[in-house]
Amino acid sequence: MKKATPFFLFLCLSMNVSLKAQNQVAIDLNTSNAKTVISKHIYGHFSEHLGRCIYDGFWVDSTLHVPKKDRIRLDIVDALKKIKIPNLRWPGGCFADEYHWRDGIGPRTKRPKMVNTNWGGVVEDNSFGTHEFLELCGLLGAEPYIAGNVGSGTVEEMAKWVEYLNFDGISPMANLRKENGRDKPWKVSFWGVGNESWGCGGNMTPEYYADQYKRYATYARNYPGAPLKKIASGANAFDTNWTEVLMKNIPAYEMWGLSLHYYTLPTGDWGKKGSATKFGEEQYFNTMKNGLAMDSLVTLNSAIMDKYDPKKSVALVVDEWGVWTDVEPGTNPGFLYQQNSMRDALVAGSTLNIFNNHSDRVRVATLAQTVNVLQAVILTEKEKMLLTPTYHVFDLYKVHMDAKAIPLQFKSPKYVLGDKQLAALNASASIDSTGAVHITIVNIDPKKKINITTNLKGLKWSKVTGRIVTSEKFNDYNSFDNPNKIIAKVFTGAKKSGNMLSAELPPLSVVELELN
Ligand code: AHR
Repeated sequence: MKKATPFFLFLCLSMNVSLKAQNQVAIDLNTSNAKTVISKHIYGHFSEHLGRCIYDGFWVDSTLHVPKKDRIRLDIVDALKKIKIPNLRWPGGCFADEYHWRDGIGPRTKRPKMVNTNWGGVVEDNSFGTHEFLELCGLLGAEPYIAGNVGSGTVEEMAKWVEYLNFDGISPMANLRKENGRDKPWKVSFWGVGNESWGCGGNMTPEYYADQYKRYATYARNYPGAPLKKIASGANAFDTNWTEVLMKNIPAYEMWGLSLHYYTLPTGDWGKKGSATKFGEEQYFNTMKNGLAMDSLVTLNSAIMDKYDPKKSVALVVDEWGVWTDVEPGTNPGFLYQQNSMRDALVAGSTLNIFNNHSDRVRVATLAQTVNVLQAVILTEKEKMLLTPTYHVFDLYKVHMDAKAIPLQFKSPKYVLGDKQLAALNASASIDSTGAVHITIVNIDPKKKINITTNLKGLKWSKVTGRIVTSEKFNDYNSFDNPNKIIAKVFTGAKKSGNMLSAELPPLSVVELELN
């Protein structure tokens, strides 16, 4: 064996040091900087009359052998309650702008059957309508977020829906509601004035939509004790002109929120989006890059909103987001049924960190879509139900709901693939009303672990505990044969020494730390 020369030893040592340096991150976290409340509504979900989200998802055939209330599937309800689902957006999506709410009330046998033109051309029997949706929200303990029809509806139709839902008195719509078995109004608050009005919601220009918004919003009345949080249909991804025109033309006092839709496409190509589970590192990298773009998107939109609304009274409502892949082979292309892998969990964790860090402006977000559609948190197959990796990330992050965001500063190591690179680490933190500090951290690097340290001077804490969602491969997923491959587990990689917190984050991991 050859003897190592001093120069060779020096080289090895310095390489080791620089490799270590790459994976070592010092996070600056000062709890006294915590001011903005992270609205729990950032952790919302979206459910459309699309594929198997409502029908054969939440709302099942009465012959299906699962626990049910009426036809609402209660195993799904229980699972969503565990992650404290704060709100549920309905009935669309594109479906909202073709939905006529009066088709979905009254005796079910008399409700008209129609075609769902947007999604697969299937029969919509209207058995799930206003009362059923609000019953579901009641069971979930979630606030309803209803999107009204601007595209093919009328101002009168929307005004009457609001009266039906929210007026506690004598009026034609309040009386009709009572005839249909509901005495008291539901007092729905989140109210979408159309959906994607630049596309499936009417193909409007932003100028035209801004005028329409004002007409519809004027007659969507605030009934006593039931003020509406009216949300304008916002931009498609990077179309910042839409945001600009709406902010310029709609006074802040007429608009509680402005929405934004952004989907993460693995290939970036709507024609061939890529498989949900069969992909290599190149596509993994691109998906993460496209997912992390949410940060610049929110930053750009916030900057425009700041120009017209420096007090930040208008909320940015990211009411459609998530990974959109090709459908699972053999399934109806109009049903948007896709599997959900470790990659989805990493996109979810990163996106929720972005929202937490922009919680001064982002006050509502709803992931598309809750059950069996797009980046679902729950998948079902007849009586079987599984929780996706994305579900478990929401379970980890629920600790941030209504806690105060703690700004973080750190320099992330790079996740390098060939000549491309991304920030390997992203994180957010909050302090809740009991004084517990939570830090959620994502390591997107598929090979390298990352060691973090943070000096929590000024904070009284005696222990750190944690949970982790991780898997060996980015395309691992939970199947009906192996539904618990990826779940939230206890994380033991964090230590306290004095005031110093350190943790070793495995590759491909989402970690939640609790300090108290
Ligand atoms: O979530 C699926 C569809 O995506 C929604 O219906 C629409 O709003 C968006 O284009």
